[in-house]
Amino acid sequence: MAYNDFQDFLARLEREGELKRIRTSVNPCLEITEVADRAMKLPGGGPALLFENPTGHAVPVAINAFGSRRRMSMALGVEDFEEIAAEIAEMLRPEIPSGLLNAARTLLPRLSRMSQCPPRRQAGTGRCQEVVHTGEEVDLNQIPILHCWPQDGGRYITLPLVFTHDPETGKRNVGMYRIQVYNANTTGMHWQLHKVGAEHMRLAAARKQPIQAAVVLGGDPALTYSATAPLPPGIDEMLFAGFLRRKPVQLVRAHTVDIEVPEDAEFVIEGFINPEEQRMEGPFGDHTGYYSLADMYPVFHVTAITHRRKPVYPATIVGRPPMEDGWLGKATERIFLPLLKLTLPEIQDMNLPVEGIFHNLALVSIRKRYAGQAFKVMHALWGLGQMMFTKMILVFDEDVDVQNVQECLWRLGNNIDPERDMCLVRGPVDMLDHASRAPGFGSKVGFDCTRKLPAEGFHREWPDVITMSDNVKTRIDGIWKDLGIS
Ligand SMILES: Cc1cc2nc3c(=O)[nH]c(=O)nc-3n(C[C@H](O)[C@H](O)[C@H](O)COP(=O)(O)O)c2cc1C
Repeated sequence: MAYNDFQDFLARLEREGELKRIRTSVNPCLEITEVADRAMKLPGGGPALLFENPTGHAVPVAINAFGSRRRMSMALGVEDFEEIAAEIAEMLRPEIPSGLLNAARTLLPRLSRMSQCPPRRQAGTGRCQEVVHTGEEVDLNQIPILHCWPQDGGRYITLPLVFTHDPETGKRNVGMYRIQVYNANTTGMHWQLHKVGAEHMRLAAARKQPIQAAVVLGGDPALTYSATAPLPPGIDEMLFAGFLRRKPVQLVRAHTVDIEVPEDAEFVIEGFINPEEQRMEGPFGDHTGYYSLADMYPVFHVTAITHRRKPVYPATIVGRPPMEDGWLGKATERIFLPLLKLTLPEIQDMNLPVEGIFHNLALVSIRKRYAGQAFKVMHALWGLGQMMFTKMILVFDEDVDVQNVQECLWRLGNNIDPERDMCLVRGPVDMLDHASRAPGFGSKVGFDCTRKLPAEGFHREWPDVITMSDNVKTRIDGIWKDLGIS
């Protein structure tokens, strides 16, 4: 189901009892974080919050809109985001239909779903442009942008969809990169080294050109999710969002930059970056639960701010897990699993536990058929897109429930001979990894926690896991109630 815009999504959350309005004045400087953090730490992720009176501002702040399994699923218009994974798995099924009728029956629905996807350009202006500020009128201070944590370098836009174009091919990219406010019309642009926005800037630098960007806030929540999704470069996030919401994204031309933006957005901040210009960005209380250290990043010069007549400012906070962004990550874990399985069909399941902040820990189960297969899976994952950042990969047999972290720790401890089963590699690591020897470069480790085969040099007997015999279980089931134990 597609939403009309972000406020339509909030209205649905409210109807479903998922949104709490806060009328008390709460300060966007630190106080909103403290309230939101407490909400996010409630069992299940707490409610979405709409701060109607952020101190000193007329624009309400929405936070934690994606912060539970239910709301993340509602954001993508489904009962549960597993449905999207199932649908993708179905689309990727490589069967060849026999006969014309069968071909029509199997392929036509898939094609019709795909034809709903491409974004559409709308003539004229959009709802995101009901109010336009350019030149001297540009003032980021009018937006209730949060100062999240005490040691942060300043105020940060935390749910931005950053639109850029590849200067060579013209292809669009939309990534979520935080934006630090420096003053009324300049900000940082925290696209990390490995991200597509940074690559677009490098290509612009090679041509000695500035790069234009549009920072979009709001729109159908499927757009926000798409900006965070690890799509391969060249796959258009707006196409993916159209696929998720089953309706094309409507785009309009921005005011001062040659970029098309979602017409339903709450705010659009337009501007450009001179690739040679850098400034200290950070520190920032990050999703690792630590402050990411200040570093040099490009400077974004704002040429226009456009917004709706009555906008809502969409925000999040990141910090020590569990947090709202954990649900964006969980959706990605499930939605992208069928795509991983396309390359690695032995993978049965994968869990990126929130405590592992996505890129520190992956628990993977495989159907093991040959010697060394767990190592093959690790190396393949380290070569796949943003999975390259995974610091620890633990590979288990197919009968292990990797969604059960306790079970994984039990199997890990029992099943490894560390020297034999550990694989250490060096390579790119996440820019937020503060323990690596250098920013973005370090080591990663994999553990083969599977049952070992003779072909792997293991000639001892591998013991069975302890379980009770079925006939005894049945008898005890029959008398359990009478025993009065529980
Ligand atoms: C709340 C949130 C904040 C994020 N902030 C950043 C950031 O500041 N810099 C960055 O490079 N990636 C950040 N990310 C991760 C990227 O959005 C993610 O890696 C995305 O896939 C990048 O898109 P790209 O492949 O088009 O560059 C953030 C993700 C979330 C959910």
